[in-house]
Amino acid sequence: MQTEFDMHKVELHLHLEGAAPPTLIRQIAHEKKADIDGIFDEQGHYVFRDFEHFLAVYETATSVLTEPMDFYRLTRAVLDQSATHGVIYTEAFLSPDFCGQAQLGPWREYLSAIQEAAQESEKKHGIVMKGIVTCIRHFGPDKAKKAALCAAETAGDFICGFGMGGAETFGVQEDYIYSFDMAQEAGLRLTTHAGEWGGAESVRQAVFDLKVERLGHGVQTIDDPQLLDEVIARDITFEVCPGSNIALGIYPDTHSHPIEKLRNRGVNVTVSTDDPPFFNTDMTKEYVALSRAFSWGKEEFTALNKTALNAAFCDKATKDTLFKRLDTE
Ligand code: ADE
Ligand code: ZN
Repeated sequence: MQTEFDMHKVELHLHLEGAAPPTLIRQIAHEKKADIDGIFDEQGHYVFRDFEHFLAVYETATSVLTEPMDFYRLTRAVLDQSATHGVIYTEAFLSPDFCGQAQLGPWREYLSAIQEAAQESEKKHGIVMKGIVTCIRHFGPDKAKKAALCAAETAGDFICGFGMGGAETFGVQEDYIYSFDMAQEAGLRLTTHAGEWGGAESVRQAVFDLKVERLGHGVQTIDDPQLLDEVIARDITFEVCPGSNIALGIYPDTHSHPIEKLRNRGVNVTVSTDDPPFFNTDMTKEYVALSRAFSWGKEEFTALNKTALNAAFCDKATKDTLFKRLDTE
């Protein structure tokens, strides 16, 4: 039986390494004789205590991915999963820091392996993937500049954006202006994690200092009505990841999550999974939870997907084709 949860979906916020199936990470660790057992529970799921520990576990899992072929396998596995949940377009955060330590030569090789995998997955499942090069905030502004250079040098049809993830409480958004300006000058569109942990002030800096057009999470903007008006006036889109926020303890459950309030206020909200196996989520689970908490149905989800596609960083031709697929699913 067809339900509203089977519908075609657009996802804007997915960390490629954060989407790594634990089985794949264990398999690669086994092949490389790397001991990373401590990051899994008895059922084989990733296990962590809090956000800081999550970042450490994430980096340990990622540490087994040491060559382009690993990223080829990762990309294929992640897109297989996404396609299972009806995703037809996904923008994945790709971090040069995890792909040859943000050096341009190795980065090009990793990127071409990722792109090859994406092309094959598109042929197999019809899923379209684009990349947003992402610096890691707690690695500091100098590393971010290297990531931005990788982004600027490989900007094009596939790499269409630049962003920042990592610990939002490390430094301030402003410390990364140089990198965001470099990426923007290379024609890349901008997003950053803001208002996940850093409060409304972090969102303010993201909007006014980094000049992003999308916010990773953005949910804490709810605490500042004046800033909310500003982000609405600027037509900024929020990459909301309710399951991630709940798994990390920012909100106790979907009902308490501000996504519905933000939407009613007029914010462009979209829904993504962030790091699905870490947070025991996927796009279907996200839709089911939102439907239960707020009685969202086909109409709301269709609107959500159109908002997401409007805010996507890909070229217009790709968007036009995908809009047709959203209408005819
Ligand atoms: N990297 C992967 N997931 C993240 C999150 N939720 N916040 C910041 N950085 C991340
Ligand atoms: Zn994220």
